[in-house]
Amino acid sequence: MRGPRSGRDLPALQRTTRIQGGNFVEEWARPDTHPDAEPTEVHVWRALLDLDAGLLAELAATLAPDELARASGFVTGSLRDRFIVRRGVQRNILGRYLGVAPGSIQPIVGLQGKLGVESGGSDLRFNSSNASGLALVVVAWGREVGVDIEELRPVPDADALVERFFAPGEVRAFRALNGDERARSFLECWTRKEAYLKAIGAGLSMPLNRFEVSVGTGESPRILHADDDPDAADRWTLRDLEPSPDHVGAVVLEGSGARVRLFSWGPWTGP
Ligand SMILES: CC(C)(COP(=O)(O)OP(=O)(O)OC[C@H]1O[C@@H](n2cnc3c(N)ncnc32)[C@H](O)[C@@H]1OP(=O)(O)O)[C@@H](O)C(=O)NCCC(=O)NCCS
Repeated sequence: MRGPRSGRDLPALQRTTRIQGGNFVEEWARPDTHPDAEPTEVHVWRALLDLDAGLLAELAATLAPDELARASGFVTGSLRDRFIVRRGVQRNILGRYLGVAPGSIQPIVGLQGKLGVESGGSDLRFNSSNASGLALVVVAWGREVGVDIEELRPVPDADALVERFFAPGEVRAFRALNGDERARSFLECWTRKEAYLKAIGAGLSMPLNRFEVSVGTGESPRILHADDDPDAADRWTLRDLEPSPDHVGAVVLEGSGARVRLFSWGPWTGP
């Protein structure tokens, strides 16, 4: 089974690839061969969403009719194409782990919108997020996962958002930060919180003040507590991601001890 184009033709996410002016950090590997499913690991893939027309068409050909219908509802061509690419890349990644053609995958939509997939007994779980031309897809086996990415940008109303929506402990920690730390810490905190909400499958249907994560770039990322789950701090592992110099991200995985491996979606040779 081959995904869209062999590795040679795929647009490489080079270490030197620039996204809005910055270089990617080095720790994202570009594997020559697609990594195997590994229950003791969690794989996070990053992918650029603005691709050439040929590859876009190849990815579009793998989408289901309902995905193409959703794509046609986007107000701009750019948003439509990015949706096609992120669903196409997601299918490509999942298809390679599952050993099936990307177009044959039938996503199952959970109650609050979290996607799953029939995985032939492999218990594959995944989640995705995108922001300003970059997507993350996290894949795990036998454990729930959630991921979120945000573009680093000024957030003029960060203080007000924190005071209004965040948990009391987060509000206190945020107030203690100096002005320079606040914008990045806000976005980091936001991705930590969304990644948790996506791991448990609730999405933004759960109020953001019903659980607390660590706040501050110097703080190790942790779920501190959740009103609905007294064991949340032990049940979930939180890790920050640096998807590019212009983005922050976070991944939440069920349990502890899994090795998180980071990959750039791009050229590889097989299977
Ligand atoms: C999930 C949610 C937090 C995503 O946030 P976002 O910043 O807009 O978008 P992101 O790029 O980070 O994530 C989008 C992905 O999250 C996933 N997702 C959607 N709902 C999810 C949920 N409840 N749990 C986990 N993941 C979810 C989807 O795979 C989606 O990808 P898609 O656009 O290709 O379908 C937000 O859209 C949300 O909470 N929605 C509410 C869902 C809801 O309450 N639905 C009620 C009935 S459907």
